[in-house]
Amino acid sequence: MNFPIYRLRRLRKNPTIREMVRETDLNVSDLILPLFVTHGKGITKPIKSMPGHAQLSVDNIRKEMKEVVSLGIPSVLLFGIPEHKDATGSSANDPHGPVQEAIAAIKDKYPQVQVITDVCMCEYTSHGHCGIIKDGDVDNDSTLELLCEEALSHVKAGADIVAPSDMMDGRVAAIRGALDDEGYDDTPIMSYAAKYSSAFYGPFRDAAESTPQFGDRRSYQMDPANAEEALREVALDIEEGADIVMVKPALPYLDIIRRIKTEFGYPTAAYNVSGEFSMIKAAAAAGWLDHDRAMMESLMSIRRAGADMIITYFAKEAAKVMRKAG
Ligand code: PBG
Repeated sequence: MNFPIYRLRRLRKNPTIREMVRETDLNVSDLILPLFVTHGKGITKPIKSMPGHAQLSVDNIRKEMKEVVSLGIPSVLLFGIPEHKDATGSSANDPHGPVQEAIAAIKDKYPQVQVITDVCMCEYTSHGHCGIIKDGDVDNDSTLELLCEEALSHVKAGADIVAPSDMMDGRVAAIRGALDDEGYDDTPIMSYAAKYSSAFYGPFRDAAESTPQFGDRRSYQMDPANAEEALREVALDIEEGADIVMVKPALPYLDIIRRIKTEFGYPTAAYNVSGEFSMIKAAAAAGWLDHDRAMMESLMSIRRAGADMIITYFAKEAAKVMRKAG
């Protein structure tokens, strides 16, 4: 394979030949758009650190879905901002909560859209942690019961897939059992399996109003230094019944995505999180990066690393770029 016999530039000569040898593809069918549902009516409350995104009340979610569907985006991931928060996040399983009502509203008008819901307590607790606090830390096993109730209420409202993001041990088995007991044995679980304790969630916590009021999430989310542990997390979630496993964040953890895809060969999702989105937005606004190219290169790199699907705040903009490219 030595130069001058072998010349790699031969296959880079023009767009046609480059496309012919392209190894990875990115399609709108790979994308999942996160949406923030708030209580009330007629509300569009822009999220400052996430340009183009807003908390939307259920009626406005319905309107937003028109564009989402017209762009061909097949799936959304819902987060809720409830009216009341308390120490045990008691509104998480409210059948009339923002997420539950948004699910029904979306499925009513667009039954073909796949509605995925984030299952976690941090949006519903007054202290912002992902479960019940005991002795200054999140108590694992009592939190499991609440997660099961929350997941069940989403599925009863019509959710197609539930996605637990709390990082409690044993939650996938607990939720699987709860769903099966009620006859929802057909509803898949997308597990946030390797979820790191990351600085890149900053803008999301503004969006979901879920910043922990004390301490941090290091006693339940993963240490960014660990890769072997991510494999154990995923192995356990698969054993417990996860149908899709997720790595989060995406770009600083491409190595983890690749290892998990190679090791397990399972449907693998990557979450291109809020901070990854906002960094590109900020740099593009300053004129330091070409927005669309940086966005598409990031998404392609996540696919190349091995993700089958990407949860991304860029979903609509990426869909528009792909549409133009034809
Ligand atoms: C809930 C949850 C978080 C994100 C998704 N689900 C925040 C967190 O763990 O603090 C972050 C998503 C993002 O940054 O885009 N636990």
